[in-house]
Formats: sequence, structure tokens, C-alpha cells
Amino acid sequence: MDAVGSRLIEFRKEFRDSGEPLRVSFRSLCSEWTWAKRSEVYTHLMHKYPAKILPYIPIFFLSTDSYASPTDCVFDSFAGTGTVLLESIVHPHFKRNALGVEISPLARLIAKVKTTPLDITRLRKEARDLAARIKSFSGDVEVPEFPNRDLWFPQRIQLELAKIRRCIEEVENPDFKDFFLVCLSSIIRDVSLADPKIAPPVVLKPENFSNNPDRQKQVEALLRKKKWARPFGYFRRSVSRNIKRVKLLSDVEEIVSKKVSSTIIWDDARQLKYGQLLAKGMIDKSDAKEVDNGSIGLVITSPPYINAQKYLRTTKFELFWLGLIGQDDVVDLDRQFVGTERVFQEEYQNATLLGVESADCLIEQIYTKDAEKAGVVSRYFRDMRQAVSEIYRVLKKTGRFVLVVGDNTICGLPVENHKILTDIATEVGFRLDVIFVDEIRSRGMITKRHETGGMVLDDWVIVLEKEG
Ligand SMILES: C[S@@+](CC[C@H](N)C(=O)[O-])C[C@H]1O[C@@H](n2cnc3c(N)ncnc32)[C@H](O)[C@@H]1O
Repeated sequence: MDAVGSRLIEFRKEFRDSGEPLRVSFRSLCSEWTWAKRSEVYTHLMHKYPAKILPYIPIFFLSTDSYASPTDCVFDSFAGTGTVLLESIVHPHFKRNALGVEISPLARLIAKVKTTPLDITRLRKEARDLAARIKSFSGDVEVPEFPNRDLWFPQRIQLELAKIRRCIEEVENPDFKDFFLVCLSSIIRDVSLADPKIAPPVVLKPENFSNNPDRQKQVEALLRKKKWARPFGYFRRSVSRNIKRVKLLSDVEEIVSKKVSSTIIWDDARQLKYGQLLAKGMIDKSDAKEVDNGSIGLVITSPPYINAQKYLRTTKFELFWLGLIGQDDVVDLDRQFVGTERVFQEEYQNATLLGVESADCLIEQIYTKDAEKAGVVSRYFRDMRQAVSEIYRVLKKTGRFVLVVGDNTICGLPVENHKILTDIATEVGFRLDVIFVDEIRSRGMITKRHETGGMVLDDWVIVLEKEG
């Protein structure tokens, strides 16, 4: 038995004996392996994204063959920008194939680029050619339409971003084109007038900081810098940094020779299918077929926290600038997000219950305060039940499901997400193995939460088993 396998047996025993979640630091659990320090290398830092999973969580569970054999496939049904997928294919001891499902086309695009090796010599040449085309370009450009565009982006910056995008469109190789689009996407927030410290876009205004002169000065300086920002310079630096990152991935022999790979297969975690990933994160669904029952060895996933992160709102500039969605697509796409606040009126005319006591108790309590919020919460847990049932269906017998969630508050009421989702999972058929809790430290864009949404302070890591 390997060290992590033995450690997991001890943890399970401790959990059974105490009945209490085990407080651990996954970072420290991995610290004895010098290779684990690479959590910020490879392509992890290519692009910011809200609430990325702490890489040490997948690193830990992937370091044993007692949860998944080396030939098993690792699956993430809320793949985001692909942290779990990347860790599966670069793991130094067990490199496993990975499959991901993700509703946001931007996150799908980033996850694909972060896990696709490229011919670096050709990429460097392509980057030089692209830079030359952008410099000499003098034709008309199309600036995408979206609400308040002129408020967020000065005219000069709009034209330069549109020029870069237009020249990227001329790149023929779809993998290179996707790579450059991710580089473009990664600079869009930097050249906008949005506050870089807050995840959903908020306009930077020095007058908002009149009670904090130091911060006010910082904001004034930042605004001056942004006013003179040269998107082309930002883009070139992003390309150069990201080529180095993709090179690290492209040096992994098993990835280049296609012994292991990561594939984004579908968009919606509530019904798991195989489609065909196209360029720009789009999915061809014409020949879609269901993911086979019992075909997956291990699931590691971190679904959205209820009411906490607005993925669409936070990434809307990038989605519009890359042409991944148009203004008319926003409402429909938002409705497909687990954790959406856009519920239909019929969904909250009555409190819609699940038949799971902990969830129903919460929904009824919230209903007395705010019927619409109760509809949002009910929808979240019903969607999660569907996603968890699908995970159960596709997992092999005795396969493990590692679920990473956070608790928060809604309408002033504490929401024990981890407990409710554990109850839902056991109702679906899973057996609870062990629960860990790890304190969240700084994690990219995990910043301000909704006023009544409360702060998510801990990662709850729930390990479930599909009984054999
Ligand atoms: C906590 S984030 C995952 C972050 C990811 N682990 C990473 O490190 O980048 C949750 C993700 O679930 C996605 N999501 C929301 N609703 C979904 C759905 N119906 N199907 C699949 N993914 C969904 C969101 O777009 C978001 O990217």
C-alpha cells in the first residue's frame, strides 16, 4: 500500500471513531513531496477564474492507487478551468486520462488550452507572425456590442483589443488560435476600468475610497496606468509567459505521445454525455451519446457554492470580447448554471421540496423570509441532486467521489451545504467514507461575496463511495 493509501485508511478510522470532520491542511499533507510544490507551475496560472479548487486537493487523492487504479479515468463534472484535469495528466507517479464537463464556454476554452501540448517552435513562430500582423494591421475592426461597453473600456483600448482579436481569427491552426484567444482573454480585465480586487466587475472610482487616503491614491495611480495601457504590450507579455507554461506541459513525454490526455466532453453536469469539443470551447452535440454506466474510476469535483460566485457576471467581458456569447445568450446560459439566481416564478410560488430533511428544512425556513430566494435554494439542491445521480451512474462500483464544497449564509441563515449535499449523496446511494475540512487561503478571484451571501471560509472535502 502506498503512503497516501495508508494515510486514508487511518483518516477513515479516525472519522468513524470520532464522527467529526477531520481538520487538515491539504497543502501540508502534500508538503513532504518536493514535486507537489509545482502546484503553481505548468499551466495553472494561465488565466484567473473564480473559486478554483486548491490544486493540493486533487494532488493528494491522485497520489494513491487505492482510490483509482493507474489506468482509471478521472472525471470532473464542474471542471471550471481544468485544475483537476491538469493535475491528472501531469501527476509524477500516476498519470491518468481525464474527462471534464463545464457549462461556461470560456472555462471550457481555458481548460482545453491548459491541458493541450503544443509544438513550441511552431507556436513561437506563429506568435511572431501574429505580432507582426497586429502591428501592421490598418483595416476596419468590429468591436463587440455589450452593455455599458464604453463605461468599462476607453475607445482607444476597444479598437486595439478588436484589432488583436481580428488578427487572432486569421490563425489557421485551431489549437494555436485557442491558445492566443486565452492569452487575449487573460489581459481583458487588466485593461478595463474594473477594480482588479473584486471578482464581479465594479468600476474603479477614487471617490469611493475617501475614508482611506492610501487606497484612494493607489486607485488614482491605477486609473492613470489603465488610461495609458497598451493592450498590445499586455498581450505580447501574456503570450510570452504562457508559451513558457505550455512548454512545461509539452515537455511531459506521456502527454506529447498521447499516452494520457484530458478532454472536455460536455457542457451540463446534470446529464453526462460525450459531444465533440470544437474550437473556441464550443461543443458539437449532433452525435452526442451518454457516458457509459460504471465507466469512470474516480470523480473529483468542486461545484458552484450556492449563491456565492456569479460565474457569468464575473467573466462577462471575456465572454463578449472573445465572441463566445452575444448579448441575447446571457439569460439562457445563466439559467443553465447550477446556483443560478434566475428561477421561474412557478418555482417559488410554493416551497419546492426535495424529500431530503436537511434541505427541506432550510428551504421552508428561507421561504418564510423570501420566497424567491427559497426558489433559488431549492433549484440549487435539485440541480445538485441530478448532478450527483449522474456521477453515481457513471462511476465504477466501489469508485470514489471527492466533492469539494463550501458553507455560507443565505438571508442571514447558515447554510450547511456540506451536510445537505452529503445527505443528498447518501439518498442517491453513496456511502460516506470521510469528511475533511481545510481552511481556504487566498485563492485568485475568491473575494467579495454577495451581501447576504456570507463568506465561504472553509473547503469541505467529502469522500463518498459507490457501494459494490
Ligand atoms: C467552483 S467552480 C470549479 C472550478 C474548477 N475546479 C477550477 O479549478 O477551475 C464551479 C464550476 O461549475 C460550473 N458550472 C455551473 N453550472 C454547471 C453545470 N450545469 N454543468 C457543468 N458545470 C457547471 C461553473 O461554470 C464553474 O466553472
